[in-house]
Amino acid sequence: MTEKQTWSQRFESALHPAIARFNASIGFDIELIKYDITGSQAHAKMLAHTGIISYEEGEILFTGLEQIRQEYDQGQFQPGIDSEDVHFAVEKRLTEIVGNVGKKLHTARSRNDQVGTDTRLYLRDQIRKIRQQLREFQGVILDIAEKNVETLIPGYTHLQRAQPVSLAHHLLAYFQMAQRDWERLADVYSRVNISPLGCGALAGTTFPIDRHYTAKLLHFDRVYANSLDGVSDRDFAIEFLCAASIIMVHLSRLSEEVILWASEEFRFVTLKDSCATGSSIMPQKKNPDVPELVRGKTGRVFGHLQAMLVIMKGLPLAYNKDLQEDKEGIFDSVNTVKACLEAMTILLQEGLEFRHQRLATAVTEDFANATDVADYLAARGVPFREAYNIVGKVVKTSIAAGKLLKDLHLEEWQEIHPAFAADIYEAIAPRQVVAARNSYGGTGFVQVREAIINARTQLSGK
Ligand code: ARG
Repeated sequence: MTEKQTWSQRFESALHPAIARFNASIGFDIELIKYDITGSQAHAKMLAHTGIISYEEGEILFTGLEQIRQEYDQGQFQPGIDSEDVHFAVEKRLTEIVGNVGKKLHTARSRNDQVGTDTRLYLRDQIRKIRQQLREFQGVILDIAEKNVETLIPGYTHLQRAQPVSLAHHLLAYFQMAQRDWERLADVYSRVNISPLGCGALAGTTFPIDRHYTAKLLHFDRVYANSLDGVSDRDFAIEFLCAASIIMVHLSRLSEEVILWASEEFRFVTLKDSCATGSSIMPQKKNPDVPELVRGKTGRVFGHLQAMLVIMKGLPLAYNKDLQEDKEGIFDSVNTVKACLEAMTILLQEGLEFRHQRLATAVTEDFANATDVADYLAARGVPFREAYNIVGKVVKTSIAAGKLLKDLHLEEWQEIHPAFAADIYEAIAPRQVVAARNSYGGTGFVQVREAIINARTQLSGK
């Protein structure tokens, strides 16, 4: 049997050791300790400010909590399973340090509003860090894009060659995804940043607390208007996990492309040694482990989102211990997203080399300019659908003859349709095919240069 617990005299015996282990969250919620201390310090200040405890008592509590922060930072405070969770651990240590007055800290508070406060403070910090990382990721993409406006790369639909695009345009698609991720997190932040402190166990408190005071000290934008809601909803966590999942979707898609590009079939990029690994048996291999891991780690973040939704769906108001299950998924998602963003940023920055020669050849060896032949005829008065059918036949006969469109003689073109003239060759050259797509948001070089300027502005946005 373990030592008797922190809760009331109502209990006659201590918890069964296995149940104590089962119940405890200290093994993972220790991650929240600095936020628990900060939240408790604000609470102590408020208790003194409102006269619920004396000013001196407030000072003692504040200083004692600060000492715990230092002890923890220096590795001198390592609470064990007997503390159950980080909240009990801090309170217990505080009482050891400051004596009986430590027992006043929990006046007008419950672990329910406390854990809600801690989790929000933690997520707030992490959201800021992830947004910063997204900025770095975007910066690297933009640098590569700037150097590759006129580098062409095959564009695909259905993973079939469709139309060539500017490599910068392709990469800027990921810049824009990351931009929305960055914006989305700001939106999530606004709903993370609401204070549940002072909601008590579920119904508020009999003490004359000042919730707005603690909210201000902790830099929350506002306070929960309803105490039951404040202690028991985790919509902010669901929203965060959703935003995290979307970031992972974007990183995973980029990963998949890098993996394809690095394959012998594509040969669009070379992986540098600093970001690739070898095989233990096949000496010729260089494996894209980084993007594979990012793609693989995506599933766990989706899993945490799903778990959080399921945890919430059947919970009656207000707090239920099920909510303790929110933390590991949140922590793991935060750590996963941060690790993946860091790895992908490094991979882009120094681990990938685009094979320009190969890309230049790749865009000339297919029928990805067929649309441009149809557009050519349509621009000369042939109705587009008719032009489309004509070009379909041209592609068919060219394939049968083992030729590409650029290899057809002018007479052959003119046999197909009298509207074809010598300028058809220029119209179907890959550079022209790309340059001509000058509609807003398209891959035309003028558009891409404009998009880069706009992206720079977006990147400097707050
Ligand atoms: N460790 C708990 C959690 O993470 C803290 C809140 C406990 N509240 C309670 N009424 N047992 O949710």
